[in-house]
Amino acid sequence: MTRLVPIPVNEPLLDGNEEKYLVECIRTGWISSEGPFVARFEEQFAARVGRKHGVAVANGSVALDAAIVALGIGPGDEVILPSSTIISCAAAIVRAGAKPVLVDCDPLTWNMDPGLVEARITPRTKAIMAVHIFGLPVDMDPLLALARKHRLKVIEDAAEVIGQTCRGRPCGSFGDLSTFSFYPNKHVTTGEGGMIVTDDGALAGRCRSLRNLCFKPEQRFVHDELGWNFRLSNLQAALGVAQLERLDKSVAIKRRMGERYTALLKGTRGLQLPVASTPYADNIYWVYGLVLEDDVPFDAREAMARLAKLGIGTRPFFWPMHEQPVLRRMGLFEGASHPVAERIARRGFYIPSGMALSGEQIERAAAAVREILR
Ligand SMILES: Cc1ncc(COP(=O)(O)O)c(C=O)c1O
Repeated sequence: MTRLVPIPVNEPLLDGNEEKYLVECIRTGWISSEGPFVARFEEQFAARVGRKHGVAVANGSVALDAAIVALGIGPGDEVILPSSTIISCAAAIVRAGAKPVLVDCDPLTWNMDPGLVEARITPRTKAIMAVHIFGLPVDMDPLLALARKHRLKVIEDAAEVIGQTCRGRPCGSFGDLSTFSFYPNKHVTTGEGGMIVTDDGALAGRCRSLRNLCFKPEQRFVHDELGWNFRLSNLQAALGVAQLERLDKSVAIKRRMGERYTALLKGTRGLQLPVASTPYADNIYWVYGLVLEDDVPFDAREAMARLAKLGIGTRPFFWPMHEQPVLRRMGLFEGASHPVAERIARRGFYIPSGMALSGEQIERAAAAVREILR
């Protein structure tokens, strides 16, 4: 029997100008964050999502840290966010000394449920952190209306939706500060990297300062405040510029992947597939998620183990913030219950979704999923 080559859960595609631009960095000697690709990437990326300013940073997690601090959020403040998200979102709030306040997600879109947000607003609420999940955005209209009504800031975590829109407006154009990640599973990758975008020049300047140790412009090694080194290198930005050139192609590849998976998996008993479209957006399938229905006699962990045996790479859905030991030990979320987040964490996983996935690999992965549910 021939052994099938395993299908990784993600593989980037670097077949544009990536190599050419990297060679340019090496030939010119510009490899640090002071090289010209950084500003070029910031300008082009910000323009692509309809913003005035881009601040390139080391990754999508620190983009959130800088955003929270730049907005002046700190001790005594509360920020509302989904329970089902990456730890980076809650960690940025907690590190700044503020309190994360959670809402559950929608069982179909897996995004935070905007209908649950207003009940969580208190006089201490400073901001809503809107997180777009798995390629389908959260509907920003109700969240922006609440932010206006209660005078809250909006931090938009658009890490998973590069190239996506919500009601025709680019994701990343909605927050006072919006953030992105360029990890290799994203639609634009720089290996590691991130970006904060905004229309507010003062906020952009604040993020730039925080990213670079808060050097005083007029007196370089004197500091009024503690910042970080969150800088992105010219090498990484060179990759970013090349990746951005092919963003439309990348989004089209992922859409085709999602549509093909849906065609192959539709009607499989016991399986909830991603929502293809809503009144505000069509899915761009950052990853292709699946949730096992309650009548399937095993959970996501078992499904992933079975798929691994068939050579299919998978990843679980996010584990809810209110069930994170590190946050619970801090006394957060006592007695909290967010049943949808809890359920999809236990029954959800995603299958190979990389940019380099071939049609044959998609068919094999889908056949394996059908096989374990037979
Ligand atoms: C929604 C979301 N926010 C933030 C991040 C963190 O990005 P990074 O891995 O670049 O730190 C991720 C990572 O995948 C993410 O999915």
